[in-house]
Amino acid sequence: MEVIIRAHREAATKLTAQIIADALKKKPNLTLGLATGSTMEMVYSKLAEMHKKENLDFSLCKTFNLDEYIGLPPENKGSYRYYMNKYLFNNVNIDPRNTHLPNGMAGDLSAECIHYENLIEESGGIDLQLLGIGRSGHIGFNEPLSAFRSRTREKALTPVTIAQNSPLFDKPEDMPKRALTMGVGTILDSKRIVMLVTGKEKAAILAKAVEGPVTAMVSASALQLHPKVVVIVDEDAAEMLQEKSYYRWIFDNEPDWLGYK
Ligand code: F6R
Repeated sequence: MEVIIRAHREAATKLTAQIIADALKKKPNLTLGLATGSTMEMVYSKLAEMHKKENLDFSLCKTFNLDEYIGLPPENKGSYRYYMNKYLFNNVNIDPRNTHLPNGMAGDLSAECIHYENLIEESGGIDLQLLGIGRSGHIGFNEPLSAFRSRTREKALTPVTIAQNSPLFDKPEDMPKRALTMGVGTILDSKRIVMLVTGKEKAAILAKAVEGPVTAMVSASALQLHPKVVVIVDEDAAEMLQEKSYYRWIFDNEPDWLGYK
């Protein structure tokens, strides 16, 4: 795991978008794993800007989102399909048929989860997975005690996550309490992972995920087991990391460090 600390949110977000853009330029038919949430809004607006100004091409790209609420149709403003259309898909030249989210409206949710895993496999697996972290330590909606070998499945959301996300709904009580999410095992199967974490309110959980013990109580700590993870953070989120000076030293002293500079 590599940790890159940028001075502020804007710089951390820009670097994240740049990594995605570079991967897409290198492999136009990239299979990209996507996340939603407030942290990602700016990443998607940067990608849309790159599409507009630099012709960043999404025409061959396939996407798989981490998760979707159960019971919200795509036209519901709280659904992740609505979010993705609004912040990314409607603003770039992606073929809508190449964009995938688990269908939280499916009659048979277990069959839908198996179908989703099969689609990912048929696409050759996820080349690059974008992640945020929730205050509960979740990645996707893998709440505490999610098995590290879990696959796409139905998950009940914790009170911490409901408190985090319900203000995003017109009526907070309308937020679904259950979701479909890729499993921790599904995420760990990605070839490469970039996690973006910004803001003071994430400092404590980020420190647990990156420097704490690997434990199912903090799903994001499973990323310590993956050989190719970059965690991009701003100073606010980095506040409680013990080894900050080491991470900075590596970034500043390794020539052309991983090509991210
Ligand atoms: C949503 C997802 C979640 C979010 C996390 C952080 O698709 O995967 O794990 O990344 O809850 O959300 P924000 O950015 O709103 O703090």
